[in-house]
Amino acid sequence: MKRNEFIKMTGLSAGTILTGSAFTGFLSSLSSCKNPHHMGLMTKPVMVNEGNFSKLLSFPTQAGANHTLTAQVTSATVNGSSIPVLGYQQNNLLGPTFRVNKGEAVNILLQNNLTEHTNVHWHGLKIPALMDGHPDQLANAGGTFRYQFTINQRAGLSWYHPHPHGKTAKQVFQGLAGMFLINDAEEAALNFPSGSYELPLVIQDKRITPGGIPYTPGAEEVMAGFMGETVLVNGIDSPYTEVATRFYRLRILNGSNARVYNLAFSNNTDMVIIGNDGGLLKNPVTVKEILIAPGERLDVLVNFAGISPGTDVYLTSKGFSNGGDAQGKQEFKIMKFKVTVPATDTFTIPATLSSITTLTASSAVKTRTFEISNAMEHHGYPMNDGMKMRHRINGKLYDGGRIDEYVAANTNEVWVFDNSKGDEPHPMHLHGVFFQVLQRSGGRNQLTAAENGWKDTVLVMPGETVRVVVPFENNTGKFVFHCHNLEHEDDGMMLQYQLS
Ligand code: C2O
Ligand code: CU
Ligand code: CU
Repeated sequence: MKRNEFIKMTGLSAGTILTGSAFTGFLSSLSSCKNPHHMGLMTKPVMVNEGNFSKLLSFPTQAGANHTLTAQVTSATVNGSSIPVLGYQQNNLLGPTFRVNKGEAVNILLQNNLTEHTNVHWHGLKIPALMDGHPDQLANAGGTFRYQFTINQRAGLSWYHPHPHGKTAKQVFQGLAGMFLINDAEEAALNFPSGSYELPLVIQDKRITPGGIPYTPGAEEVMAGFMGETVLVNGIDSPYTEVATRFYRLRILNGSNARVYNLAFSNNTDMVIIGNDGGLLKNPVTVKEILIAPGERLDVLVNFAGISPGTDVYLTSKGFSNGGDAQGKQEFKIMKFKVTVPATDTFTIPATLSSITTLTASSAVKTRTFEISNAMEHHGYPMNDGMKMRHRINGKLYDGGRIDEYVAANTNEVWVFDNSKGDEPHPMHLHGVFFQVLQRSGGRNQLTAAENGWKDTVLVMPGETVRVVVPFENNTGKFVFHCHNLEHEDDGMMLQYQLS
């Protein structure tokens, strides 16, 4: 590369003089970067600092179908000190966990006490476009937004978080998120562990300082996503909980901006996956480890029977390959289960959980392909700041004034996410629908145990092309779809489809 190209692409001004070791260091960082798209931006992992697992796990308060969420600056105790955070309620990092029944009418008022606009996206709820928390539908600073909708879908774990374009990542990272559980009769009939044996767990990594949770991604961190060195579960760093020698049901949400976890237990015990983003699978699937990307959910049964009281078992994230330069490089503990109480348990895992009609590619009336590899200019959409690489879909950055895809209601389509030339993981998420994953080629070359049934977010690792089949029903209107690495999303890796 010639010097002026080099200057142009790295964003150094021509007058910048890098001398001596600074210059050689910069050059060697360039040459050691394999990816031409990054133009010298080196993405690297943010290593997790494990704590000592001495803080008791707790759970966000529970809320029903009628509630007020007050987005505010508040304080929360993290890592032993009280710091300013954003919250939907006082003195908490996370909002309440909603628990509602299928068929219920929901009425939630968002009171925005922030000094900037925000909104709430109900991730995983099939609700009208105007209630979905589209980046156009905002509550101004000091204003309100009333969300009213009916729960018209099966049991499952959804969640909620802000979606104001360009500010989503910061608002989520600083604390705004919560879980949304739906119950129904089909699920109740299966008699899963409930009450204190059902544990909703939000896993998030944060950067914690005495002054709060700073959100200051540099260019490399926009490429990799903003990751933190402290892993929280339900807002608590390195927590523990006491468990009895019996089955537990873990309702797991990866609420991190960018970090992918490869969940496994330290004693290598089985995890029985019974559900994912869209609710129950057809049949349980037993695994030793399972990836969960930002936005994804897992419903997992774990049996602590047979473990002697007094034993500590950790939920960990194991290393993984295929995750690009910044992900999967470290194995770390997330939380501790102290097996304390002997118990007897008559629960047995049902062989059949739910009936799900398998959709085929041949049912689709149309196939749309989305190129998600390339952060550079192409397809005639110029890089609009001239310097930085930007995350794009089909070469385009998000433009709220442009509809990218027009979709006919009541048709099935195949959507293809092509990351075959990419070197970063992209968890791709569609609003307003659930889909079935048909195929993954390249990279891992197969579907995971949690990719049966209904999904709303699918992880597309470097080198992979993933095909999904989407039944678009008659919930007409304008929806977004995007990468759920929130730095990528805010950077522009989001488009709109209009269903009509
Ligand atoms: Cu949880 Cu548009 O995302
Ligand atoms: Cu969503
Ligand atoms: Cu992405």
